Amino acid sequence: MRFLITAGGTREYIDPVRFISNASSGRMGYALATAALKAGHEVTLISAPTALKPPAGATLVAVESAAEMFAAVKQHFARCHCLIMAAAVADFTPASPSKTKIKKEGGLKPTLRLKPTPDILRWAGRQRRVCTAHHSKIIVGFALEDRDLHANAERKMRDKHLDMIVANTPAAINATASILHIKPIDSDWIKINESHKTASSRRIIRETERLFRQQ
Ligand code: C5P
Repeated sequence: MRFLITAGGTREYIDPVRFISNASSGRMGYALATAALKAGHEVTLISAPTALKPPAGATLVAVESAAEMFAAVKQHFARCHCLIMAAAVADFTPASPSKTKIKKEGGLKPTLRLKPTPDILRWAGRQRRVCTAHHSKIIVGFALEDRDLHANAERKMRDKHLDMIVANTPAAINATASILHIKPIDSDWIKINESHKTASSRRIIRETERLFRQQ
């Protein structure tokens, strides 16, 4: 299978040197890319900045912002059999970033106006519904929830027309090990007890293979 995997936290620039981002390390997406490669698949890894070394054998597409990640996903989506959106995509971006470095002189108290970013995963789910060429793709999303984990994640899966959702709590951010809950469209919740992201990645990839075979 050809996998398209996103990873890392996007950077939304306020001015040429400052940005808003989040605490994502990129480990989940990189572990998924490694697991898919080990299972013999082809991997394109679209990565926001991380401190990680890209897995050997993956085609790396480096991006910074949500807008750049969206453009890269659009470019590579048609060829993939499975999209896994493991990236922590910023939900908001500065509405009018400054072209020059914002100065503190002059007693200014700047306010930051934000606008929503495009929801990449929602776009992918919709593509599959409107275009027969994309029908057989497997689309997987992540949900980071601090309450009502299963209910919120299931709603996301329905709303965005996904085949599988991986739910976790804020404790998973920037961690090497985490507790994951996986919900494939055709089965009940599977809880993966506290384990290294490498181990849980293997399980996620196996589930995508199973869903792909069943189509
Ligand atoms: O709706 P929420 O942001 O919680 O959904 C999380 C999922 O959606 C993740 O898989 C994330 O990668 C993806 N996402 C996206 N584009 C955004 C925001 C989130 O693809 N702008």
